[in-house]
Amino acid sequence: MRRPNYAFRMWTKQPFSNKLLNRLRSSRYLLVLTGAGVSAESGVPTFRGKDGYWRKFSPQELATMDAFEKNSELVWEWYEYRRGLIREVQPNPAHYAIKDLEDRFAEFLLVTQNIDGLHQRAGSRKIAELHGNIWRDRCLKCGQVYDHKEVKLKGVPPKCACGGLLRPDVVWFGEALPQETLLQALQAAQFCDFLLTVGTSALVQPAASLPLLAQENGAFVVEINLEPTPLSERVNESIRGKAGEVLPGLVKKL
Ligand code: OAD
Repeated sequence: MRRPNYAFRMWTKQPFSNKLLNRLRSSRYLLVLTGAGVSAESGVPTFRGKDGYWRKFSPQELATMDAFEKNSELVWEWYEYRRGLIREVQPNPAHYAIKDLEDRFAEFLLVTQNIDGLHQRAGSRKIAELHGNIWRDRCLKCGQVYDHKEVKLKGVPPKCACGGLLRPDVVWFGEALPQETLLQALQAAQFCDFLLTVGTSALVQPAASLPLLAQENGAFVVEINLEPTPLSERVNESIRGKAGEVLPGLVKKL
């Protein structure tokens, strides 16, 4: 059998190479990129896994502006369903380990594609939310943003004080990412010394290009995922395991 030409390790009790640990310990600026896999151990479904949302539902009918214009009630029902589910779950050891990492590095940024707010609930503060947040709504008419912590909103589709329709303040397919947040993430990728990409299929751009941008700029890049992704062969090391086990193990080694 041909040996893979990249450093790949299954999660064991000693999954971290000395090179990885030395680079991490000597890093000043750590960037962590997360995807749905980080919340999977909390009980939040991923998008493309076995029980992932996009295996059962069509993103065209639920996560596009076209879908919202056609049937805003259906789209809101889907977001209320997801809010209900997310409210019932708790952050898991992966979220807490990422918060620990934030406390240990002089410079740190967590770039997340997740909209569930679990990182904040675990205490993370230096966060760039690339795809928005499910607990915020935005008016289509005046742009006013509201924090809504309740699961069911009054009247679906809900309305803004100005009379405009409210939509979830998340990024849908075909939409631009929030520009300032994207810029912050791109800058972090250019200047970080070490990047950890955790629980993302690395299929959605521009998030998927951040690890390679960081690597091109000299950072050491490590992937933690249950399965191989398009990044696995390109990063410095790819660790196959559960985020909620591997990350706390890594924090202990620091
Ligand atoms: P995906 O569902 O595409 O990928 C989740 C990844 O997590 C997969 O590669 C799994 O192998 C991995 N995974 C699952 N459980 C894990 C665990 N316990 N530990 C480690 N890895 C695990 O989710 P994302 O990559 O986040 O966008 O998807 C990116 C974007 O596509 C989402 O933000 C969303 C979606 O459409 C928008 O809604 C705009």
